[in-house]
Amino acid sequence: MQYLFHTDLLIDLIENPSISSDKALAICRSGAVQGWVLSATVPLLVQAARRSNHPEKAQQTLKELLSALSILTQTANDLLQSIADESTDFEVALALAAAKEIKVDGILALDPKPFAASGIPTGTLENWEEIHTEKSDSVALLNIPIGYHEILNDVEANMNQVIRSGYFILGPQVEKLESAIANYCGCDYAVGVSSGTDALLLAMMAEGIGPGDEVVTTPYTFFATAGCISRLGATPVFVDIEPTTFNIDPELIVQKITAKTRAIIPVHLYGQCADMDPIIEIAKQHNLVIIEDAAQAIGAEYKFRRAGSFGKYGCFSFFPTKNLGGFGDAGIITVQDEATRDKLLTLRMHGSKPKYYHKYIGGNFRIDALQAGVVLAKLKYLESWTEKRRTNAQNYHRLFKDSSLTENISLPQEIFPRHVYNQFIIQVNGNRDDLRTFLGENKIATEVYYPVPLHLQECFSDLGHAEGSFQNSEQMANNTLALPISQEVTLKQQEYVVKTIKSYFS
Ligand SMILES: Cc1ncc(COP(=O)(O)O)c(C=O)c1O
Repeated sequence: MQYLFHTDLLIDLIENPSISSDKALAICRSGAVQGWVLSATVPLLVQAARRSNHPEKAQQTLKELLSALSILTQTANDLLQSIADESTDFEVALALAAAKEIKVDGILALDPKPFAASGIPTGTLENWEEIHTEKSDSVALLNIPIGYHEILNDVEANMNQVIRSGYFILGPQVEKLESAIANYCGCDYAVGVSSGTDALLLAMMAEGIGPGDEVVTTPYTFFATAGCISRLGATPVFVDIEPTTFNIDPELIVQKITAKTRAIIPVHLYGQCADMDPIIEIAKQHNLVIIEDAAQAIGAEYKFRRAGSFGKYGCFSFFPTKNLGGFGDAGIITVQDEATRDKLLTLRMHGSKPKYYHKYIGGNFRIDALQAGVVLAKLKYLESWTEKRRTNAQNYHRLFKDSSLTENISLPQEIFPRHVYNQFIIQVNGNRDDLRTFLGENKIATEVYYPVPLHLQECFSDLGHAEGSFQNSEQMANNTLALPISQEVTLKQQEYVVKTIKSYFS
């Protein structure tokens, strides 16, 4: 629950450090409440602490409060609009504008009266529990702003550094991100690029893959995996998936290898690694390059190694829905050797080295420096979010088992720990789309990733595949459904999801 701590309450806590300030700190630290303080309030609190009769104690309380609360930065516009609103007290107007913008659940104030007409629940420190009602009867697949309390101050610091330095293209934030991601994935280098799609495209460009070449991959993935192969004039050669992991079945790869095959792109779909050992063996035997599509799998492991560290290239997406998402499009490629890294660096700058001397035909595939700053700030939270997703997955397993729903619903299996659950995919034994509509009517968001396997997409009709060509992929496209699993999803919300599915089948 997100609460805005109003100025009058915070000044009171600082001027009279007491049991009340301990209570405020306790509720924030317990995690029951995520507290915000407006940046415009902070100077007033500093003054209050300095003026206090017990300045040392007051300073200490201020420090503790500011470490427990997140600061919501006001823009110049917020300030000017609140000044212009002559009918409302300036601080109240500012608080209301901010509270509406970040959709807080309530405001805590010393005097709640000025907020009475606003429609925003407002309480005092004494009665806050009465206005505290956790919403568990609607569940979003992803609610990015709910996580701002944890990350916004770090993200803003990195974004401001880019804005204030004027260093918008590449630069220090990009370099820091590249070495941090390489380190996180257990790789030697990483090259930031404009998106996960461009990561795949650039990796294949670096290999000179083009017309006449074949690239083996799965038809049960996001379009970009195969789209990039075709964009370069090469041919995607599909291999069906294993039903347990939803990933390419290594046993079926060899029969698809020809003299034209150049690369294999295994996709670590939904956050679980493909079975890499046999894939690596096949690639070695046939002298093929492995390009991992790890767009959904940052932090996923297979036999204690991380996604992105198995192939010559590991392609990641920072699309906002990913476990580590930017505030827009971005991606990165992990690599193991300096020569490949240098080639990628050159290709992402139109193939020019030195500047204006073009060794290759590349493109503008640079990662945006602002996005690099956002992703870098969020990286330090990734492990705790991954563990929360894994806990949520365990919760679903327990709840579905307790509800005796295992005949109607098959749950995803963790065959290769560690699964990072970018998605939690159930298989529905029944009418998947009807269940999805029912859940939607009960305010539970779900998604189908992906309703049409790639071999049946219109744009790939010239590849000559028909229905029945890849039966596991087709079956999954018909019966899978993604349930809310992100780190913001609460146990109560998961209970509501499973209870609602139970009521559908009853
Ligand atoms: C498996 C897979 N590959 C590639 C991509 C492409 O990434 P981006 O959206 O960053 O271009 C995605 C993103 O949705 C993906 O899920």
